[in-house]
Amino acid sequence: YPSTRCHLNDVKFFARHLAKRRHNTHKGSYGNVAVIGGAPGMGGAITLAARAALMSGAGRVYACHIDVPPAYDSTQPELMLRRAQEFEMEGAVVVAGPGLGASEDSRAALARAVRSTAPLLLDADALNLLAEDNALQATVAERAAPTVITPHPLEAARLLGISAQAVQCNRPGMARDLAARLRAMVVLKGSGTVLAKPDGHTVVNTTGNPALATAGTGDVLAGLCGSLLAQGWPAWEAALSSVWLHGMAADVLVTEGLGPIGVTASELIPAIRTALNRM
Ligand code: APR
Ligand code: MG
Repeated sequence: YPSTRCHLNDVKFFARHLAKRRHNTHKGSYGNVAVIGGAPGMGGAITLAARAALMSGAGRVYACHIDVPPAYDSTQPELMLRRAQEFEMEGAVVVAGPGLGASEDSRAALARAVRSTAPLLLDADALNLLAEDNALQATVAERAAPTVITPHPLEAARLLGISAQAVQCNRPGMARDLAARLRAMVVLKGSGTVLAKPDGHTVVNTTGNPALATAGTGDVLAGLCGSLLAQGWPAWEAALSSVWLHGMAADVLVTEGLGPIGVTASELIPAIRTALNRM
């Protein structure tokens, strides 16, 4: 790995939670992820998150569409496609938000996701809907299982009821505020992603580069983190490691001459898989 950018440069910190793949295991040993999103016209976001979950080692991945799902995803036939309204969420780590939209069906699926009993990750439109709903915020704060939220600065601003500029002026403070308010692990994205947990502990990640400044890389991060959660990682370590790996994969692509110009979110996914296997 290019080591100069590893602020958290002890790879062993992350590798500690990476269980060895034992011989007598099967897909049930590596957890289920359900990505809730894919409203009409936004099927790409759910596929990116679901593919990232698959390629980072989750046993089974469901892509639960707000829209009527296609029969199968020809770009990723390993995914099980479901209609979100009919999907039984218990037994899966839910990643809600990529292309979720803001319809009544989107809101109903989000409410069910928040009430699910497994670890939960909220991203993108799930956060925009949450920002409008104080009662749902209270429900998130009362969840027994861990919650991870992955806002970009504008999504954080909506949750906090302030401007994105105000968020950017005090990123650690804002991440801590959100973590305390929602009793969640907060990943405040952007160059120098800030992570905060409810007790106020804060970390700044230093992997990553502008190769990531392209559509869909946030969806990939959400799927990756959901996958580590489904594989049994504690929520804080899953969040930290996902952010670190996501950035490291982008750094490796640049080192190999494949970026920073024109890296796509799709290409980032196999680079993350390589980083995980090297780890
Ligand atoms: N340096 C390091 N990391 C960066 C940089 C940078 N210059 N620019 C972006 N990133 C990283 C962020 O930290 C984050 O992990 O890339 C990812 C971008 O995530 P998002 O901002 O969520 O972007 P995107 O994937 O396009 O979101 C998809 O969801 O959030 C909504 O409105 C958004 O419709 C869009 C969709
Ligand atoms: Mg996003």
